[in-house]
Amino acid sequence: MSETEHHDAAAEQAAPRELVNTAPAAEEKTMEAALRPKALEDFVGQSTVRGQLSLVLQSSAMRGAAADHVLLSGPPGLGKTTLAMIIAAEMGAALRITSGPAIQHAGDLAAILSSLTDGEVLFIDEIHRMSRPAEEMLYMAMEDFRVDIIVGKGAGATSIPLELPSFTLVGATTRAGLLPGPLRDRFGFTAHLEFYSVDELHQVLRRSASMLNISVTEDGFAEIASRSRGTPRISNRLLRRVRDWALVHGIDQVDQQAASEALNTYEVDSLGLDRLDRAVLDALCTKFRGGPVGLSTLAILVGEETETVESVAEPFLVREGLLARTPRGRIATDAAWEHLGLEAPKPTTTDEGPAAPKLWDE
Ligand SMILES: Nc1ncnc2c1ncn2[C@@H]1O[C@H](COP(=O)(O)OP(=O)(O)O)[C@@H](O)[C@H]1O
Ligand SMILES: [Mg+2]
Repeated sequence: MSETEHHDAAAEQAAPRELVNTAPAAEEKTMEAALRPKALEDFVGQSTVRGQLSLVLQSSAMRGAAADHVLLSGPPGLGKTTLAMIIAAEMGAALRITSGPAIQHAGDLAAILSSLTDGEVLFIDEIHRMSRPAEEMLYMAMEDFRVDIIVGKGAGATSIPLELPSFTLVGATTRAGLLPGPLRDRFGFTAHLEFYSVDELHQVLRRSASMLNISVTEDGFAEIASRSRGTPRISNRLLRRVRDWALVHGIDQVDQQAASEALNTYEVDSLGLDRLDRAVLDALCTKFRGGPVGLSTLAILVGEETETVESVAEPFLVREGLLARTPRGRIATDAAWEHLGLEAPKPTTTDEGPAAPKLWDE
């Protein structure tokens, strides 16, 4: 079984941000495979999705038929690939893995579909990046388990119908919004994965640590969990870096202080912000009194591509309530000032935005 994973262009640009980057690094894939929960009941968190998926799978088992097609959406590192594997395992079915960017021609898809065996699970990662003609072929395959293969060109072209075995398609996408409606509608079940709570990441870490034989105290786990950006992939990665640090420092059991010191060494701060995130906030606060300032100006100040700042640093900063987008540019929130340990400038009457209430006798 070969797993072809493709990163987003944006994620690839973020190469220097390896620690908190949500895309898996090349050396990481074998490690990830080892840490992937194999059964639905070992999958931590996402209780709504887990419950719904369990119904879909049980019903398919009781009917003795392939489960409905499943669409998994959500940011990188939250468990889409893991869930796809679990679905196949729970169905006791074989799993075929491919990805949108690998399917450039309808013929590529036809070749995959026609070689499926009955009841097999087909996982298409990054399904939003499939080519248009392939997508159209997929509609029919999903609905009627049939495709039309076009042979020849121009006036002499004929289409040969091809019956397919019944299969379950599992699609994964980081951008459900980019999927065309007709494709989205053909999935019987759509699961949206949410970021994990610190408690859930704590459980992920506890599980990984016992598999990797790393000894960590409960507050050590809590420290790593709180710096993991709500993402299990990052939790597992930080755990391994903390393990390295502890090994070199001759520490047998990682407690909160050790975890904190280790992560500080890697410049991952208490909220999980890394150097770029902090550089953005710092530029915003110290150079522009908190903004508003345009994205491209910010990018120049931190020496990064606009695209990187927008797609890599900004979403997390916005989600954490540290940065806000306004029509006039980006602004730092009070929480940002506080996190940097800086004092927000007092609003003056010449500033726009919330000014002190005016008194009549002023
Ligand atoms: N719910 C979970 N419980 C335990 N580990 C998880 C969970 N979700 C993700 N992981 C771990 O995080 C890593 C990345 O998960 P993956 O399924 O590859 O994410 P995605 O495909 O959404 O980018 C894997 O190593 C997996 O072990
Ligand atoms: Mg994946």
